[in-house]
This record gives sequence, C-alpha cells and structure tokens, in this order.
Amino acid sequence: MSSVTFTEVAKRYGDVSVIEHLNLDVNDHELMVLVGPSGCGKSTALRMIAGLEDVSAGTISIGGRVVNELAPKDRDIAMVFQSYALYPHMTVRENLEFGLRMRKVPADERARRVASAAEILGMSQLLERKPKDLSGGQRQRVAVGRAIVRQPAVFLFDEPLSNLDAKLRVQTRAEITRLQATLGTTSVYVTHDQVEAMTMGHRITVMRDGKIQQVGAPRQVYQSPANAFVAQFIGTPPMNLIPATVSGDHLQTSSFTLPLPAKFKGLVADAQRVLAGIRPEHIHHAANGDAPIHANVDVVEPIGHETIVYASAGSEHLVAIFDPASTPRAGETIAMSVDSEAMHLFDAETSESLMRTGR
Ligand SMILES: Nc1ncnc2c1ncn2[C@@H]1O[C@H](COP(=O)(O)OP(=O)(O)OP(=O)(O)O)[C@@H](O)[C@H]1O
Ligand SMILES: [Mg+2]
Repeated sequence: MSSVTFTEVAKRYGDVSVIEHLNLDVNDHELMVLVGPSGCGKSTALRMIAGLEDVSAGTISIGGRVVNELAPKDRDIAMVFQSYALYPHMTVRENLEFGLRMRKVPADERARRVASAAEILGMSQLLERKPKDLSGGQRQRVAVGRAIVRQPAVFLFDEPLSNLDAKLRVQTRAEITRLQATLGTTSVYVTHDQVEAMTMGHRITVMRDGKIQQVGAPRQVYQSPANAFVAQFIGTPPMNLIPATVSGDHLQTSSFTLPLPAKFKGLVADAQRVLAGIRPEHIHHAANGDAPIHANVDVVEPIGHETIVYASAGSEHLVAIFDPASTPRAGETIAMSVDSEAMHLFDAETSESLMRTGR
C-alpha cells in the first residue's frame, strides 16, 4: 500500500500547457476521485502516475519514492481503462494470469491469486470463457480482476464504467467501492460524472482547465464549494447562480429581493456585486403571496420521489426541486421561498466563495 503525491507537476505538449502547478496528496488506503469536465486533464494526471505520460515539471511520488524516471512496469500500479482491453483469444483465466506470467510469478502462486480474485469478483464459474461470451459488465469485472491479481500498491481507474448501461453502472460502482474498502488499496479514480465522484470518493478533487479547484470529502465539497464553478459542477440539477447586489440587509437581483443571510453580515460590503448560489432543494413552493419570488413555471419534470421545476422570474431562470405533493403545472404562476441560511455567495468578479475567504 502507498500514498501518491504530486508536487508542482506540470504537463505541456509543445507550447500547449495542459496541467499547471498540480499539488495533491492521495493518502494510503484512500479512494481519491479526480472529477471535472471533458479535457480538464484528469486522464493526463492519471497517466502520469502510471508512467504512460512524462512529467514536464515537478515530481510524482508513490509511497514516498519519486517515480518520474521509473518505467510503468516498475511503478507497482495497475490500471483499469474504459475500454476493457482484454485479449480476445484468451480465456478469462488466461487474461487474469497474463500479467503474472510476464512477471514470472510461479504457477501455484498464479493459480492462488486468480482463484482469489475470481472469488472476490464472483466470477469463478466464468474462468474458462472467452471475452466474447461475456456481458459488458462481466468483461469490466475481468479488467478489474486483472488489476487485483497484480496486488499493486495503487489502483488507477480511468472512467471504468463509461461503457456500461445505467443500471449496471450503479451496480458496478457499488462493487468497486466495496472491493476497494475490502482490499484497502490506495486508488485514484477518474470520472467526469459527479454522481460517481460523490458516491465513490473518500475525497474528491475537482479539476478545471488543468487546475485543481477544490479537494475535500464529498459532503464538504457539496456544502462548501470553493467557487462558483465547483458549486455548479457538483450537484444535479446544478446550483442556481443569480447575479445580485448587496443592499443593506438584502440582496437585490434583477427580478426579486432576498434577505441577506445572517452568516454573511460583516463579510460583504454594501453595494458589493455577488452571485447568489441557491441549491434547487432550497427553493420551495410557497403557499402564500408573501414569498420573495414570483415565477412562471416553464417545465415540470416529475421523476417519482421528487419533481424538478424550471421557472422564470423576470429575466432569471431558476430550477427547483419540489415535493411531488406540491407539483405545479407548466404555465402557472407560483410563489417560491428560499432557505436563505442555506444560500451561498460568490464574488461576482473572481467567483470565489465569500464564506470561505471570510473565515
Ligand atoms: N498529445 C497531445 N497533444 C496536445 N494536447 C493534448 C495531447 N493529449 C491530450 N491533450 C490535451 O490535454 C487536455 C487534457 O486531456 P485529458 O485526456 O487529460 O482530459 P480528460 O480530463 O481526461 O477529458 P475526458 O473527460 O474527455 O477524458 C485536453 O485539452 C487534450 O486535448
Ligand atoms: Mg479522460
């Protein structure tokens, strides 16, 4: 087992800078998720740990040892890709064994490790099949099994669930979480899916344009996003961000007025321009006409346990999550209230959270 540390890591392709000043500690036994939009550098960061990409500047350490100059095979890592990359002409057993054969692991030890991995993954009865006779989920399990038999210091996963259908993704997601908890192997897991990040990561690292935006436990990132980007990236539907101006005890938007939450008093100045961040679950369908927001309902999406409502108040577009019992109809004008103490404020210029900088 091992920690993984990035110190001032940069990656450039010629003049193109993809990653800058990457500093990150992945703890021993931890499952760290790297999450961010397409092209933000997640795979590049992972491939640098694996040694599949050179580092342009800085150092990467595994278990306290700088690995910049080590060949991938000497780094004691095992990687699972989105494409399962199984050998089609080999059986599951041969696929699992292949890496061990290359490393000249003795036959009895190979057999023991393959049996153990097959047992852990519940695929002992599939060992003599070829990949073409397996479902997508089973193929992905073989790919994970191939990483397990190696008994590496670190697992690296790059979007391993992307090729699975929605139901299987949820199931396999839970399996990988359980597996990582059982084995305790330090893991770095790359995904662009914020739900995967939230459900799987002990901690998550949110990236954008090759830079870390925030590192923290899922709940912490959800409850205290460092900036407007993280606030909108983590959570579905995304947080509402509404331009507003501080006016005494109030926040004035172009279309309505909200009370300034007590927690921001002293942290913001009168006439300061901010972005008010309101999670959809903190907007409620209000019964009376005194509620601060009056909006026209544009679209209603009943999804069973909750209803997602898209509404417009003047020029502001809002998304709210309502209880199914109080579902309005499209075209209706409704009153909406806000859990004001749950509100976030971000600087209108820098988009940094005003809560964190104020602490
Ligand atoms: N060989 C290369 N030359 C120039 N730019 C490259 C090269 N390889 C990758 N890039 C760029 O590096 C950036 C990061 O790519 P990377 O594959 O790490 O993104 P990602 O976060 O994994 O995205 P995705 O979610 O789409 O997989 C992208 O803008 C990509 O175009
Ligand atoms: Mg990628």
